[in-house]
Amino acid sequence: ENDILEKLPLKGRKILVTAGPTYEAIDPVRFIGNHSSGKMGFDIANEAAKNGAEVILISGPTHLKTENSQVNLIRVTSAQEMYEACHLYYKDMDVAIAAAAVADYRPKNVADQKIKKTEATFTIELEKTEDILASLGEQKKNQFLIGFALETENEIEHAKLKIQKKNLDLIVLNSLNDKGAGFGQPTNKVTFIDSNFTIEPMDLKSKEAVAFDIINKIIQHYEA
Ligand code: CTP
Ligand code: CA
Repeated sequence: ENDILEKLPLKGRKILVTAGPTYEAIDPVRFIGNHSSGKMGFDIANEAAKNGAEVILISGPTHLKTENSQVNLIRVTSAQEMYEACHLYYKDMDVAIAAAAVADYRPKNVADQKIKKTEATFTIELEKTEDILASLGEQKKNQFLIGFALETENEIEHAKLKIQKKNLDLIVLNSLNDKGAGFGQPTNKVTFIDSNFTIEPMDLKSKEAVAFDIINKIIQHYEA
């Protein structure tokens, strides 16, 4: 078995992957979240491990599990916890892939008791969460940094801006325009854009196949 592992293309590489949604507490029993299943990030983590990498998978709440012993799963709840977990490992990593659907905002104040329905209308003030991927871009040394982008308009332009703003090497643009793509679906239609703004539209395919394509990009990067 060791002989086989030696020949794997990502042998010796350390890869950090974020996955899933984050939950932002409103009070002890309520939160703000989203419909991310975590599947894209888990598929990437498993594909990286299959190719010999040592994987740190930092995931928000999901029912998914991983059986691969090369995948070290760290479960977190909020964006702040995901941020802290990422920075604990990032310095040692060769690659980081941000596949999590991190909440952009969280309640500014978290009630320490369950909120009672006394008011006719009720407003929650929100504040921005830390942009985890942007912070990884700021602290980038030699890491190959991959982000995702979800856009509903001017998607190529917006994705290019995210590459620059977050100091990325590659962005995986998720197209919602095509039927069968996105949250809760088994398939994704993605476009790769690299830091030279080379655009590569991919076919609609399973999330496993998209994960395979992303891992191939990393393998190609280290072969070049
Ligand atoms: N991301 C992150 N931390 C955040 C928000 C986003 O790490 N607080 C990462 C996501 O994991 C994804 C990338 O940033 O890889 C882009 O996420 P997206 O929601 O498309 O973009 P935002 O930068 O959040 O901007 P907006 O939602 O306004 O388009
Ligand atoms: Ca966002």
